[in-house]
Amino acid sequence: MADRSDIRNIVILTGAGVGAESGTDTFRAEGGLWEQHRVEAVAPAHEALAKLDREWSGELLIVTQNVDDLHERAGANRVLHMHGTHLNAWCTACDIRSPWRGTLIDRPACPDCGEKALRPDVVWFGEMPYEMDRIFAALREADLFVSIGTSGAVYPAAGFVRNARDLGVQTLELNLEASQGSHWFDESRHGPASVLVPEWVEEIVGR
Ligand code: OAD
Repeated sequence: MADRSDIRNIVILTGAGVGAESGTDTFRAEGGLWEQHRVEAVAPAHEALAKLDREWSGELLIVTQNVDDLHERAGANRVLHMHGTHLNAWCTACDIRSPWRGTLIDRPACPDCGEKALRPDVVWFGEMPYEMDRIFAALREADLFVSIGTSGAVYPAAGFVRNARDLGVQTLELNLEASQGSHWFDESRHGPASVLVPEWVEEIVGR
C-alpha cells in the first residue's frame, strides 16, 4: 500500500466474509443460508477492527453490510449498519425503532404507537440502504478505503471502490479470494479475514 504515512481518515466496508469464521454464513458461498446466523464467537477480524477503532486518532467509519452486531460486541463504536440490523423492529406507522428479539411474522403491535406496523429493521432488495449521505461524506474525506469480506456483488456497496477511486482515495481489498470488484482496487490481498485483518491493523496502527 503506497503512501501509508499520509493516511488519516479511513472508511472500511465489511461484508459477510468478515464474520465467516465466527460461525455466520456468507450469502453466496456454496451452502450459504440467508436465515442462519449462528454466532458462536467474535472472530479475530472483529477484534482487530475494534482495536483500530480504539487506537486510530483520525476519522474512521466501519460501514457494515452485516445485520449482526459482531462489530459492536467486539468493542467497535464507529460502526454504520447500511443494511440495518436484525436486532431492531421498525414501526412503519410511527417510524420508531425498538430493540426486538422475537418473531415479527404475526405482526405484533408497536410498543410505542400500538399499530400493527412492525417490520424487521433490515434493508430488503430494491430498498435504499441506510445513511448513504453519511457514507459518501466519509468517503469524500477519506484517504483510504478498505473492503473486507464482501463479494462486490450487491450495489451500492459494490460501487464504493469506484466512488473512492474517483475521489482519489487509496483502495485496499482484504478477501478470501478475488471478488467481482478486485480489479478496481489499488491492492487486493487474499486469505482469511482472521489473518489478513489483524495483520493490516498492526501495519496501519504501528506505522
Ligand atoms: P457474500 O456472501 O456475497 O460474499 C462474502 C465474501 O466473503 C466472498 O467474496 C467470500 O470469498 C468472502 N469470504 C468468505 N469467507 C471469508 C473469510 N474467512 N475471510 C475473508 N473473506 C471471506 O456476502 P456480502 O458481500 O456481505 O444484502 O453480501 C452483500 C449483501 O448481499 C448482503 O449484505 C445482503 C446480500 O444481498 C442485503 O440483505 C440487502
